[in-house]
Amino acid sequence: MNDNGSGRSTVIECHQVKKTFVQGAYSVPVLNAVNLSVAKGERVAIVGASGAGKSTLLHLMGGLDQADAGEISVCGHALNEQNEQELACIRNQHLGFVYQFHHLLPEFSAVENVAIPLLIAGMNASDAKAKAIGLLEKVGLGHRLSHKPGELSGGERQRTAIARAVVCSPNCVLADEPTGNLDAKNSQQIYELLLELNKEIGMSLVVVTHDLELAHRMDRCLEMTNGCLHTLG
Ligand SMILES: Nc1ncnc2c1ncn2[C@@H]1O[C@H](COP(=O)(O)OP(=O)(O)O)[C@@H](O)[C@H]1O
Ligand SMILES: [Mg+2]
Repeated sequence: MNDNGSGRSTVIECHQVKKTFVQGAYSVPVLNAVNLSVAKGERVAIVGASGAGKSTLLHLMGGLDQADAGEISVCGHALNEQNEQELACIRNQHLGFVYQFHHLLPEFSAVENVAIPLLIAGMNASDAKAKAIGLLEKVGLGHRLSHKPGELSGGERQRTAIARAVVCSPNCVLADEPTGNLDAKNSQQIYELLLELNKEIGMSLVVVTHDLELAHRMDRCLEMTNGCLHTLG
């Protein structure tokens, strides 16, 4: 990780990032010049109208799509210099993802879903299972260990997805409207959980949300407009 001059290391750095989607004869410019620096442990909210490019930016930061121009680095690794295998390794080691819809694997239990990133990272099955159980207990799902996603409520599925996102102790969690599909009470619980884990694990948080009240609980709130990020007062 790089030192950003404040004594805090930088986890994610975006410099003049541009992205345009081309569909046949049409091109849709989405990101014009995005600059963003996320410090270790920092909590950043991104808000903005639907279609503004928030998910596109998160995909680029996660190495799930490529920028047309500019540089993105994750924990000092320039993403445009990595091949697919290296990108997968960076995602597994440094990042956690939470989506609006949980993206859990339907045929696996909660424990198995949470253990999978550990198995991919090379941990043996019994240690991975023990760690997954510990984390599920921590997020309040100790009584739902062997339930499959279809047997869990929306809030429980999202808590399982958060457990999966943090199980490898990532440096940063990228959350794309993690409560977009939940009622107010469950949304509140999900935010409390993310903030608690942020404190305990020290991971940074980049959260895309429509909820301004929750966004202002982060250290910084940025708005995506015209393909750029602006500080929201
Ligand atoms: N794979 C794609 N191909 C073409 N256009 C896309 C693609 N992904 C996103 N877009 C377009 O880019 C714009 C930004 O999308 P998105 O990043 O999903 O916005 P947000 O998350 O802020 O709602 C939208 O106009 C969307 O239609
Ligand atoms: Mg989106």
